[in-house]
Amino acid sequence: MLKETQTVYCGQVDENHLNKEIYLSGWVNRRRDLGQLIFIDLRDRTGIAQIIFDPKDNSQATKIAHTLRPEFVISVKGKVVKRKDPNDKIKTGQFELQVQDIEILNKSETPPFPLDDETKVDEELRLKYRYLDLRRSKMQKLMKLRNNTIFAIRQYLNNRDFYEIETPILAKSTPEGARDFLVPSRITPGTFYALPQSPQTYKQLLMCAGIDKYFQIARCFRDEDFRSNRQPEFTQLDMEMSFVTERDIQTTCEGLIKDVWKTILNKEIKTPFARLTYDEAFSKYGSDKPELRFGMRINDLTKIFEKTDLKFLKTVIDNGGKIGAIKIDNKSFSRSEIDNWTKTAKDLGASGLVALKFKENNSVDSNIAKFLPEDFFEQLKKEIKNLTNKDIIFIVAGEYEKSWDVLGRLRIDLGKQLNLINEKEFNFAWITDFPLLEWSQEDKRFYAKHHPFTSPQEGWQDMAPKEIKARAYDLVCNGEELGGGSIRIHDPEIQLEMFKFLGIDKKEAEDKFGFLLEAQKFGFPPHGGIAFGIDRLIMILGKTNSIADVIAFPKTTKGKCLMMESPAQVDKKQLDDLKIKTIK
Ligand code: AMO
Repeated sequence: MLKETQTVYCGQVDENHLNKEIYLSGWVNRRRDLGQLIFIDLRDRTGIAQIIFDPKDNSQATKIAHTLRPEFVISVKGKVVKRKDPNDKIKTGQFELQVQDIEILNKSETPPFPLDDETKVDEELRLKYRYLDLRRSKMQKLMKLRNNTIFAIRQYLNNRDFYEIETPILAKSTPEGARDFLVPSRITPGTFYALPQSPQTYKQLLMCAGIDKYFQIARCFRDEDFRSNRQPEFTQLDMEMSFVTERDIQTTCEGLIKDVWKTILNKEIKTPFARLTYDEAFSKYGSDKPELRFGMRINDLTKIFEKTDLKFLKTVIDNGGKIGAIKIDNKSFSRSEIDNWTKTAKDLGASGLVALKFKENNSVDSNIAKFLPEDFFEQLKKEIKNLTNKDIIFIVAGEYEKSWDVLGRLRIDLGKQLNLINEKEFNFAWITDFPLLEWSQEDKRFYAKHHPFTSPQEGWQDMAPKEIKARAYDLVCNGEELGGGSIRIHDPEIQLEMFKFLGIDKKEAEDKFGFLLEAQKFGFPPHGGIAFGIDRLIMILGKTNSIADVIAFPKTTKGKCLMMESPAQVDKKQLDDLKIKTIK
């Protein structure tokens, strides 16, 4: 056994260690035999160091080195020397360790996939052997980034008088719009805890408790169908403050984001962030989380087509629909490219797509040209800024929300395919003035757009429900919803009114949220807050495309952990204890 195992990390070998004796421990990344000499790239979480076995230094150790295979875990003792052939690609490339002694700490079978960053490995295989996947340098960097980010957040908020408080995981249903994960109670059979979809009601009660400034790195659980960048189990930076306005919360968050970006990426982020109302965001970008790193805003052409002879457009307008258009600058798509975009639009839910090209003389180059007035280009120019006859216009007509949503998605696809997005930029914006309620055509009822505890804006009593705006805001970065929050209701009367909008009568409200309604009678201060998706935040900081990359043990799109094979069946005895019978 060696006297020590690790006095220096592999990736931290530098001139301070030159000619000194050190101990390194780690995994065999690669072995190369060069005649008598054996070269090993030894890897730990900080990087790689080259170590050399020379029979002249220690013939026994060199013999052992011949048996080393990738992913064997070893400790070595040796002297750091300058490399004759430095490798500029790695941090320790100027140095190598002349090994004097070695100990094999553990052997390894051949891993099911190479642990480099280049090989494209099947996603499911990565997840099945996640502990090996996490050894890869890309994943090590992301885990470090996650640690550093969360540490920076904690430091920032601690320095600003926030208390970090943990709230229960065995909780009661919190309405955030998804299904709950339930946990049966053994002691009171037939009753269930719900895992929190967010700590929303707890953090409000902490304000009632006089905590004043709270945060938590909170695990949240939502049983919802797969959508990209959602996990059934994820982490929020959850915050709440008393005696504040929207601006106070937003300013605190801007300071936090600025600090995190500076600490983690050494990047200056300009504050305050841009602000767009929900209506503006949707009418210009067809989304409440607009990607603002490029233009291509949506234009409303309904007015131009008011007197059109084109039957399908006329029908849309007569039915109260709208005609929206985006301009693709200086672009000439072929027929088949336009057919592909039409297919995309239809797949997204549009009934069709009109593509307008122009000739040199500004006339329209399209089979619908004969239905358009002679001065159509001039009319268009008034509606669409900086239009030239080298541009293409895509038009989608139909019900406002639907067609604008399609145009918004087409816009994103076009932005990506035509490389219009500056991937180096971080573009933050607040989206404000959300509607309080959202009508579900399917269920014929209103749902809370944010959640039922969000305060309506002033004047709400005199408005039709669908006109009422909420004191809610989202923070959007690069087209991703990073966080959302609101000023809350702290008055039980208003809270009951809100429940009424949602079809929850007094009795049901008492059953479900009696604890909150009661607390609101005991000096509940005005308060508000926000929650950020930490996984999304780290995904953006780490420039990776999936939140699964920044979660140590994520679930698959079907909610499974392929490594532990959960969810799994349990013993009959466990079910009996819980008085639970499963049905096929
Ligand atoms: P909301 O539901 O908007 O608000 O969630 C806040 C943020 O959490 C992230 N997020 C998710 N991340 C990964 N997987 C998921 N399934 C998932 N769902 C949400 C998003 C989102 O912006 N209680 C309120 C906050 C408040 O009002 O203070 C809430 O949970 O980045």
